[in-house]
Amino acid sequence: MAKAKATIFFCKECGHESAKWMGQCPGCHEWNTFVEAPNQTSGKRPGAGRGPGGSTAAGRFLAAGELRPKKLSEIETSGEKRTSTGMEELDRVLGGGLVSGSLVLVGGDPGIGKSTLLLQVCRNLAGDGHRVIYISGEESLSQIKLRADRLGEFSGDLFFLCETSLELISEVIVWEKPEAVVIDSIQTMYREDAGSAPGSVGQVRESTQTLLRLAKENNITIFLVGHVTKEGTMAGPRMLEHMVDTVLYFEGERNVPYRILRGVKNRFGSTNEIGVFEMQGSGLSEVANPSEYMLSGKPEGASGSVTVCTMEGTRPVLLEIQALVCRTNFGMPRRTAAGTDYNRVNLLLAVMEKRAGLHLSDCDVYVNIAGGIRVNEPSLDLGIVMALASSHRDAPVDDRMMVFGEVGLSGEVRAVNMAEKRVQEAAKLGYTTCVLPQVCLSRFPSPPRGIRLVGVRNVKEAIDLW
Ligand code: TYD
Ligand code: MG
Repeated sequence: MAKAKATIFFCKECGHESAKWMGQCPGCHEWNTFVEAPNQTSGKRPGAGRGPGGSTAAGRFLAAGELRPKKLSEIETSGEKRTSTGMEELDRVLGGGLVSGSLVLVGGDPGIGKSTLLLQVCRNLAGDGHRVIYISGEESLSQIKLRADRLGEFSGDLFFLCETSLELISEVIVWEKPEAVVIDSIQTMYREDAGSAPGSVGQVRESTQTLLRLAKENNITIFLVGHVTKEGTMAGPRMLEHMVDTVLYFEGERNVPYRILRGVKNRFGSTNEIGVFEMQGSGLSEVANPSEYMLSGKPEGASGSVTVCTMEGTRPVLLEIQALVCRTNFGMPRRTAAGTDYNRVNLLLAVMEKRAGLHLSDCDVYVNIAGGIRVNEPSLDLGIVMALASSHRDAPVDDRMMVFGEVGLSGEVRAVNMAEKRVQEAAKLGYTTCVLPQVCLSRFPSPPRGIRLVGVRNVKEAIDLW
């Protein structure tokens, strides 16, 4: 048998096969329809010349070898180039920097600092020699300049435009050929042909579609700013999240400088990462060590203060839980929880009463997570219980002690994930004791350096520690 040729020719129209190129297809008599494709040992290509299949669009694709399923080893990844935003905290959340041609949505409450963040990104990109346009539909050029003046020096090719018509914006982008564009905000943009009012679902969808096409066709990174409604969803709803490549949320309380940038969707990286920033008089500064930041100002030797550890993505962050327990003056005891779940605190109080014999029903109880951050992680339970007990007895816990563990309704202390990381972080910050669920001790075959592990099985054991 003759050795099969490496490539073979096909008619794009009808799938007729031939060993050599032909001007006119003998099958369908069309001209210039022959394409070259790798020959397959299995004989006939699926769909090729097989009755009507060869004349359908799918059949033609198959005939040209374009629809052939591939093995992993045959797939080439085009090691996509990443551009640094000049902010490590943001680069990490993006999965290692910006990917050109991607659409990145930055959501958050009004006033949280979205415009400030993106203006700083623009400044860094332009400073690194990239061409950038910041398009605002919300603020005037002079308002933007006032904000920019707070951030310091600007240099390079950074341009500003106040415009809301996407037809005009598209023309400017195609003409100016920037590498990155900021659209502040997507809710203010409109397309004349889309009919409905700016900010409506239809307009937001159409506008995003236009920008998506611009980003892909011209290989431009486009940032979209999106406002979040009080219910916590992006105004001009969730569908926006499906259309873009990356969704980041900028979170925080307005009156507290601490800000968290969280990835909730990322086609180019994990969504487990967070970036931590602090809003200052001169813009956002990166917080490289959130634990240190959150614990700054923690009182020494104060009752009701306990250090706990939460996981923000894959990063452990130490926090201070504060509890205040005092006698109720008027019949009905008061209970408040700031930064954590109110119902969870009530549940823990009930567990302490029933399983550890602490009588708190005639006490006012206040629980607060210092620093204005909100955490609803069950691993904080044990810390809350110990802070409450400490305040109730007015007996401070060891200042160099960190606590984590989930508390169940039977008063049992249950395992939590990433125990090793939490312990490591505490040791790194100079903590000498860690109280943790007994079951987590098996994760530490050899005792970690510099920190003593104390396993507890239930809340009673934890409360009896001091
Ligand atoms: P902004 O970026 O306008 O928020 P968004 O675009 O999310 O609505 O930021 C608004 C707040 O940030 C505003 O209250 C002022 C404050 N801010 C600072 O504290 N320092 C600064 O350097 C800047 C530029 C703003
Ligand atoms: Mg803004």
